[in-house]
Amino acid sequence: MKRKPKITIVGSINMDMVTVTNVFPEQGETLVGESFVTVPGGKGANQAVAAARLDAEVRMIGRVGDDSFGTVLKHSLQSEGIFSDSVEPVTDCSSGVATIIISDDNNRIVVTPGANYHVSPDYIKKYKEILLTSDIVLIQLEIPMETVEYVTDVCSENEIPIICNPAPAQTIQPFYLDKLTYLTPNETESETLFGKFVPDALRNKVIVTKGDKGAIYYEEDTPFTVPGYRVKPVDTTGAGDTFNGALAVALAEGKLIPEAIEFANAAAALSVTSFGAQGGMPIRKEVHNFLDEQEEKS
Ligand code: RIB
Repeated sequence: MKRKPKITIVGSINMDMVTVTNVFPEQGETLVGESFVTVPGGKGANQAVAAARLDAEVRMIGRVGDDSFGTVLKHSLQSEGIFSDSVEPVTDCSSGVATIIISDDNNRIVVTPGANYHVSPDYIKKYKEILLTSDIVLIQLEIPMETVEYVTDVCSENEIPIICNPAPAQTIQPFYLDKLTYLTPNETESETLFGKFVPDALRNKVIVTKGDKGAIYYEEDTPFTVPGYRVKPVDTTGAGDTFNGALAVALAEGKLIPEAIEFANAAAALSVTSFGAQGGMPIRKEVHNFLDEQEEKS
């Protein structure tokens, strides 16, 4: 039997506090919402769940608070089969939370990092062996930038492929951009990082995601688009995370870029058809069935 790819996620773990409303409130306005729910989220945890559902062996390096959310969040990772011994609670600290308002298929999110900002380079050193035994490492920007830089250094020195999902948008020093294997901004993040044009120096690294329009890969010569899929969205929260988790799995399995992006686009499309960042993340069979259906339609 083929061994499962080993994916390590270094990143955030949040409790998402989600309110659904008819319209977004204006500044200074109070509205009556339609519903409220708390569900596990955080870009790191979401990407870990996406990869685990697609049959990878997933290890998560992150932190939660020593509060009730922390206990729930860690259990939720474990229940997905994700190795979570490297998710330690921070004493006297709250877990990361995201306040999310959903209206009309769109979302607005405010993240309060809490324990996620205790994912320090020293904390990573404790779990360095996990990084060194990974097929691919996946990281985002909801933890301190010095940690992102440290993990990038470790991976690049040891030739471990590393994908950085630069979300939420922040500037990354060119020195570190160079060391990343892949960078997966959405259109807004791409503009924050590069302005209008992806620099030539980053060819073969950058994949810009465009929602249901697919993703553009900036290859050596001409950028090419791998088309996305139109589905009826219920909640788009976590679609980018599903894309990244699925991309990591596909690349770790040795798929070439166009096929890996096609797989990730399909997983992301399915993820928006149910509520919650992790709620709609598909299992592998669902992605394969979806891709077969799309082929039959064409
Ligand atoms: O990408 C979606 C995620 O962003 C949410 O789950 C929220 O926690 C924020 O981190």
